[in-house]
Amino acid sequence: MVGYIDIPAVLEETSTAGETEADNPSRDSPARLTESMIQARRKRPLDRGVCAQKQWITFTLNLHSNTQRTSMILVTGGAGFIGGNFVLDWCFGSDEPVVNLDKLTYAGNLETLASIADNQKHIFVQGDIGDRSLVACLLADHRPRAVINFAAESHVDRSIHGPGDFIKTNIEGTYNLLESVRGYWSNLNDIEKHSFRFLHVSTDEVYGSLSSTDPAFTETNRYEPNSPYSASKAASDHLVRAWHHTYGLPVLTTNCSNNYGPYHFPEKLIPLMIVNALAGKSLPVYGDGMQVRDWLYVKDHCSAIRCVLRAGRLGETYNIGGWNEKPNIEIVRTVCTLLDEFRPKADGTSYAAQIIYVTDRLGHDRRYAIDARKMERELGWKPAETFTTGIRKTVQWYLDNPKWVANVQSGAYRDWMQKQYAGATP
Ligand SMILES: NC(=O)c1ccc[n+]([C@@H]2O[C@H](COP(=O)([O-])OP(=O)(O)OC[C@H]3O[C@@H](n4cnc5c(N)ncnc54)[C@H](O)[C@@H]3O)[C@@H](O)[C@H]2O)c1
Repeated sequence: MVGYIDIPAVLEETSTAGETEADNPSRDSPARLTESMIQARRKRPLDRGVCAQKQWITFTLNLHSNTQRTSMILVTGGAGFIGGNFVLDWCFGSDEPVVNLDKLTYAGNLETLASIADNQKHIFVQGDIGDRSLVACLLADHRPRAVINFAAESHVDRSIHGPGDFIKTNIEGTYNLLESVRGYWSNLNDIEKHSFRFLHVSTDEVYGSLSSTDPAFTETNRYEPNSPYSASKAASDHLVRAWHHTYGLPVLTTNCSNNYGPYHFPEKLIPLMIVNALAGKSLPVYGDGMQVRDWLYVKDHCSAIRCVLRAGRLGETYNIGGWNEKPNIEIVRTVCTLLDEFRPKADGTSYAAQIIYVTDRLGHDRRYAIDARKMERELGWKPAETFTTGIRKTVQWYLDNPKWVANVQSGAYRDWMQKQYAGATP
């Protein structure tokens, strides 16, 4: 069923562009609105409110009401690779509703969420984490017990060619999100305040590059980011940390290694190799292919985040990894071997013959490695998949889902939401 979020037009008088409650605490923040105020404001013509001017799109009718509040979470970036997997797992494994705020950049794909299109527990909203009035509306209306921030610009190559979007979303966006969340959190009652969590999803790339003999990154490693992407993520991690130490916001940060698995946008190494191989195209490998990364199956990342959310210590950071350090060329050869097995070429040759070496990426980090023992020691988390099992599932998933891949490659996924929900935009 398709419907719209019932958003109160609460901000039409309460916020001016770029201003927060912290900037002007005398203003009437949504988090402080009483039930009757919200109900009264809801009756106003929707086209007058700031919220109503946004482009709201949701999969389901929002049955959640302010008078019968249930526990729920708000996820950002939940139409992307990891966020999408997280939202799917959450909806299939929990009764708790999830509000999913995603800007739907090129990396956001609602087709990933097609299997929960009719799920009443999933409420999708198209919007920007940096849009304070929108985020404040969502927080006031849904009153989540936790916010999990996946939203980011995430592709290193794109950050090299155009760092601006990375600064805007990863740094400014996180800052604005933190301020919106702080305004909401500071007006919760003591019990809600105590149990609230802001979980920030980050990367191992903030730690910089290791030599082949260096020990793996622990949570106490210095930050030494080398790309515009990792620098912007490092900055966002510092902001999250500061909002905890300065304002007491109950934050958790995770720093994870390279993910792989279903719904991965085919600009990243593993899906790119699979789709290029099947299309008979070359398999471009940067430099000598000996850049080492740790690889984690995305479902294991999702389970780790659920663990941290449940039991992580406030203000702490947790390194998440798969104990699967491998050079890129080995990853590519493994993909080729699996394709040779699952979808052998008619002429009997290996897909590996399509591998070519191309000029290395600027400033390419040589090695990342994650020491994930804190996750195991404190939270009892360990990855369920080895690289051998995870990569088989991944290659098989791409073979089983050619339509998802084709729509991403052709750009048709960008029209999918309009086609699927024709007329759904208010
Ligand atoms: N992919 C990995 O291997 C990896 C590893 C470690 C950490 N991470 C981190 O995990 C998070 C998710 O990564 P991913 O690979 O799923 O990324 P992705 O690029 O696949 O998805 C990002 C999502 O965020 C959305 N988005 C972008 N800007 C937004 C904004 N301003 N407001 C709201 N939504 C916005 C996009 O539409 C997209 O759906 C990122 O923070 C990334 O830094 C990724």
